[in-house]
Amino acid sequence: MYSIPFPMSVATVIQLLDDLVLSKTGENLSHIQKTIIKGSLEGKTYSDIAHESYLTEGHIGDKGSELWKLLSEVLGVDIHKPTARVILENIQFSNISSEGDFLALHNLHICTDNPNSKEANSPPEIIPTKSYLDLGTAPEILRFYGRIEELNTLEKWIVGDRCRLITLLGLKGSGKTALSIQLIQQIKHHFDYIIYRSLYFSPPLDKLLTKLLQIFPKSAKTPEDTEDKICFLLNYFRQYHCLVILDDWYQIFKPEHLAGRYKNGYEDYHLFLEKVGQKNHQSILLLNSQETSSEIAVLTKTNPFIRSLTLSSLGNSAKEILKDYQLLDVDKWDILIENYQGNPEWLHIISVMIQEFFRGSVAQFLAMNPLIFTESLKNIFDEKFQRLTQSEKELIFFIAQENDPIYLTKLLEKQSVSITDLLMVIDSLKRRILLELKPKNQETILFLNPLLKEYINQL
Ligand SMILES: Nc1ncnc2c1ncn2[C@@H]1O[C@H](COP(=O)(O)OP(=O)(O)OP(=O)(O)O)[C@@H](O)[C@H]1O
Ligand SMILES: [Mg+2]
Repeated sequence: MYSIPFPMSVATVIQLLDDLVLSKTGENLSHIQKTIIKGSLEGKTYSDIAHESYLTEGHIGDKGSELWKLLSEVLGVDIHKPTARVILENIQFSNISSEGDFLALHNLHICTDNPNSKEANSPPEIIPTKSYLDLGTAPEILRFYGRIEELNTLEKWIVGDRCRLITLLGLKGSGKTALSIQLIQQIKHHFDYIIYRSLYFSPPLDKLLTKLLQIFPKSAKTPEDTEDKICFLLNYFRQYHCLVILDDWYQIFKPEHLAGRYKNGYEDYHLFLEKVGQKNHQSILLLNSQETSSEIAVLTKTNPFIRSLTLSSLGNSAKEILKDYQLLDVDKWDILIENYQGNPEWLHIISVMIQEFFRGSVAQFLAMNPLIFTESLKNIFDEKFQRLTQSEKELIFFIAQENDPIYLTKLLEKQSVSITDLLMVIDSLKRRILLELKPKNQETILFLNPLLKEYINQL
């Protein structure tokens, strides 16, 4: 760890406090908060600060109380106006980038993740000479088309905006795994460690962390406690640039419960995400998932370092897949792609069927009405449908019977369940990317995934 020489300038203290508050709360200190810190460090009273800022003393006093409360929480020590100067003057921040949340206060070193973990305070300082790549069970991607915009967005978020936690969402087969492997090729030179792990077999967090920690150079014994392991991993996340991809994230969620509820015994993943998203470090955790939790949905709105990207159609690039299968009737390809939502896996499946049953003729295939399900495609929807709660299934059946997209207000009128329950069910289906909410005439309309609608109607 590098130490900032003491005594620090007022500006440095403010900058470091600002970084620390941002890492904890996702928000910077406001101008008035910085003014109060500056004034207090210069030994000024609230009356002085108020006078210089053209504000009332009462207002500065109120803002001051809020500020000391915030800093007390962030620093883990009681701060009030009379003690603020002495405490803040004696703070020494230290971290590899001088922006972290390790600090030494009155000569007492504190790891803000876990004050009791000494081991977690001592990451080894061995810098790898070149990137370490551990793709675990990642599949080999033989062909990859399009997704230029998505790749560039992810690169910008990761390399440019230094996001810490990104969820890559998409229906089964939309190409999350393929895209993340392709992303590695594009941005690997920015990282010391690139690690891919699938959570398909739902490893408990403690086991996952133990395995992840084994990848890094060892100095101290790996801690026993899961929370200490998180703290230890975060130290590596501060020390190195790490890109960690956790695929099949939804497998740690309970089936037959609303989307994003952790399986029993997996609740500590929530703490892990919270720490990765909120603590200051220079690494990125990318989660690939078919559904997201409400906690992530909220965090993406409140923390600028946490983002979410939903994969939709492969668009025009999907034609490359149809080309690989040497399908005919190019003028009908757009319809085929739209019917199967530009989903690469679904297009692979349906192309095989068109080849085998229709001698490659897309026109002949489309002449059959309605949308055709092969066994593999039906299995995909069976599996998805089985994960839903009873209320989700009932709502889907109801919407599937309507010919037109349904207005939210109309639905609320027609359903006998409470509004709260209904909104929770809608939200859950939305987080599974099965239902889309769109504005229309100052109202909200609900769109059920068209293939799911067809699946329900064919049941
Ligand atoms: N951009 C692409 N170009 C060509 N093929 C693709 C592309 N994206 C995905 N595929 C292919 O589509 C299939 C499904 O992709 P992938 O496994 O990445 O989907 P996924 O979203 O990870 O699915 P799941 O939710 O089941 O994990 C794979 O065979 C993959 O190689
Ligand atoms: Mg996948």
